[in-house]
Amino acid sequence: MTQIKCLLIFLMAFLTAGMLSAEIIDDDTPVPAVGDWGGPDRVLTAAEFEQWIRGRKVFDKDWRQSEGLGSPDMNADSCRACHQKPVIGAGGLLDTNVTQFGNDNGGLGPFIALPGGPVASKLRRPDTPGREDADASADIFEQRQTPSVLGAGAIDSIFEAQIFANEDPMDVNGDGVRGVARIVDVGGGVLEAGRFGWKGQIPKVSDFVRDALGGELGMTVFDDGRGFGLLSDGDAIADPEMPIQEYNDLIFYNQHLAPPPRGGGQVAAGEVLFESVGCATCHTPELLGSNGPVPLYSNLLLHDIHEDDFRGMAEPQAPVGFYKTPPLWGLRKSAPYLHDGRATTIVQAIEMHFDEANLSRQNYLNLTTQEREDLLLFLNDL
Ligand code: HEC
Ligand code: HEC
Repeated sequence: MTQIKCLLIFLMAFLTAGMLSAEIIDDDTPVPAVGDWGGPDRVLTAAEFEQWIRGRKVFDKDWRQSEGLGSPDMNADSCRACHQKPVIGAGGLLDTNVTQFGNDNGGLGPFIALPGGPVASKLRRPDTPGREDADASADIFEQRQTPSVLGAGAIDSIFEAQIFANEDPMDVNGDGVRGVARIVDVGGGVLEAGRFGWKGQIPKVSDFVRDALGGELGMTVFDDGRGFGLLSDGDAIADPEMPIQEYNDLIFYNQHLAPPPRGGGQVAAGEVLFESVGCATCHTPELLGSNGPVPLYSNLLLHDIHEDDFRGMAEPQAPVGFYKTPPLWGLRKSAPYLHDGRATTIVQAIEMHFDEANLSRQNYLNLTTQEREDLLLFLNDL
């Protein structure tokens, strides 16, 4: 009797542990309220609501090799595997980071992109034997943290002119801040401002979903002519591997996740300081979109806020050290911070602002203890 009991307890513990990394959404999982963490961004029609729920299941789904998962590469078997903190669709902790690699001559430069290096990979080392794109000369490895997808549809809706309006690459206004938009060629000579990814490398949410299906899951998609996504991968499963219904549902879900809700505290004093120390120059409180103002706390421009000896990846138009100003909405639940998660706390993240952000870091350090607390209260309300 006791033996059976022990066995049962063991089995239950085993099953619970196994479930942690498995699917978390089933038909009975409640949908968070409109505008709440992980909920829809607006009241949806009945048909849209059904599609949103289906899309959430696709985001959560553990794909199988027989459905096209993997080949040539994969980082995980689902989107949820990385995007699940604090809710499905949001970000990830350090253990979901991916890595890119290149060669920067031991830090002396210039940065040289190596074959396979810009691929965001979780498992593969650049010197993996047998790979045609293997390259053992890599000496620089950059971690990338999993950002939240909450509010991505609202970022999509921002008018492009709003992004360009804040550019100041030559620092004409003399404030030490030189913002520049990432321009992405989406085919046929069409240029669009990049809004997503740490280096602003991707213009639309749908482009990023296509990119992630290929880069993270190894799933192929049909050609939509915009240049993102893996079109064929040479395995035995017919391309495109991603079924069209699941594809459409997944994109709809990613486009209709509500931005993180505000905390609702009394934070007026901190909000004033956020402006006066210069944070708002880059972390623009709002940009106008087709459905009204989007309070993302980012100008979506590239800036270099790192010290001169910083080592990292370079991409066309986004040199070493340049990252897109990350939106600050949801900050109280998105630790750790910065592109590689090097800052554990918000204060550490602020203290790691150099170069273009030298002045605002200095202004922050000159605040009184009370003022710093007020600023932090505000940041923890976003
Ligand atoms: C192995 C972890 C991992 C998996 C699996 C993964 N992602 Fe991501 N995701 C990331 C990382 C890391 C980034 C940032 C990449 C960068 O900018 O270099 C990201 C960025 C994104 C973004 C852009 C967010 C922003 O604001 O910049 C979207 C949208 C996204 N992922 C959707 C998806 C979807 C959809 C799937 C499943 C098809 C998926 N991801 C699977 C790690 C992951
Ligand atoms: C010159 C532009 C600029 C200014 C000024 C600036 N920031 Fe930033 N901020 C950035 C960029 C770019 C990053 C991302 C850098 C990276 O990931 O390596 C960032 C990252 C952050 C992060 C981490 C966000 C995350 O999701 O990882 C926080 C928090 C932050 N900034 C707060 C502030 C505060 C508070 C101030 C004012 C004291 C400020 N910033 C001033 C450009 C700026």
